[in-house]
Amino acid sequence: MADAYTLPAYDPGQRNPYLPYAATILEVITETYNIKSFRIRLDDEKAHREFAFEPGQVGQLSLFGVGESTFVINSSPTRKEYLQFSAMRAGEVTTALHGLQAGDKIGVRAPLGNHFPYKDMQGKDIIFIGGGIGMAPLRTLLLFMLDNRKDYGGITVLYGAKSPEDLSFMYDFKEWMARDDIKVVLTIDKEAPGWEHKVGLIPNVLTELDPGADNAVAVTCGPPIMIKFVLQALKKLGFNDEQIVTTLEKRMKCGIGICGRCNIGDKYVCIDGPVFTQAQLNKMANEM
Ligand SMILES: Cc1cc2nc3c(=O)[nH]c(=O)nc-3n(C[C@H](O)[C@H](O)[C@H](O)COP(=O)(O)OP(=O)(O)OC[C@H]3O[C@@H](n4cnc5c(N)ncnc54)[C@H](O)[C@@H]3O)c2cc1C
Ligand code: FES
Repeated sequence: MADAYTLPAYDPGQRNPYLPYAATILEVITETYNIKSFRIRLDDEKAHREFAFEPGQVGQLSLFGVGESTFVINSSPTRKEYLQFSAMRAGEVTTALHGLQAGDKIGVRAPLGNHFPYKDMQGKDIIFIGGGIGMAPLRTLLLFMLDNRKDYGGITVLYGAKSPEDLSFMYDFKEWMARDDIKVVLTIDKEAPGWEHKVGLIPNVLTELDPGADNAVAVTCGPPIMIKFVLQALKKLGFNDEQIVTTLEKRMKCGIGICGRCNIGDKYVCIDGPVFTQAQLNKMANEM
């Protein structure tokens, strides 16, 4: 863990962490009415080839004259052709991002933050529980695990949203549902015409699925109300706080532990996180 009150040592050999890479959007995917994904490539070919990140790390995307916001890199480090970011329209930066097209330029400061403890998860059963845009950080870890499939036990993915129109990454889900080495469950809150999957709130479907807690890790991300009830469900299913991993979306600015925008007590989400176990979050709870 980094000491939150010590600035990272200046290393003249390192790239200036405030300097964005120039990048070009290769493709824009409309996921839902308010979420778009952006596949980008760094303009400097060498920088792109050598760009290394870990599943769960984030980047700051910047738009000239608008600003910068934080997004998880939701492609996998095992697939290097492009970096993918998905943005839910929220405020100024995401609204401007949604107006961009293939060929447009953006800035990228990445990789930032810690990552999922994927090495500690080796040999274990993994249950992914995602809600809405919360599937984005899970996607990077899931793609990474599928590309290293033999290192992990059973993989179950439970993904839900309010309605079919609110589900992202359906191109992935089509592929994942066709595989016989992972179990995929989709759910929506209420019946909808033509819907052939589960209907029910994510925590209820999770309880029904009853994934074994023995030698398992649950990785979850979604709206706070979903997380609250998912945690309760996981506890009842026998998961302890060390077996539950999540990723926070606390507002970031510098992304490198300097500005103090993202701190929770003595932890900085941008360097100690954004990935935490529930056990770590419990210790931070009084400061949130
Ligand atoms: C580690 C991390 C990973 C993230 N990953 C993703 C991701 O993959 N995809 C994604 O879509 N988002 C992600 N986010 C969230 C995203 O960074 C924010 O939604 C970001 O604020 C959007 O920028 P914006 O300029 O469009 O919106 P903002 O202008 O920042 O506004 C966003 C929302 O916050 C409200 N708001 C604005 N200013 C304030 C204020 N001062 N106080 C309180 N509320 C305010 C606005 O009303 C609006 O509802 C991530 C955040 C973090 C920290
Ligand atoms: S300290 Fe600046 S965003 Fe974390």
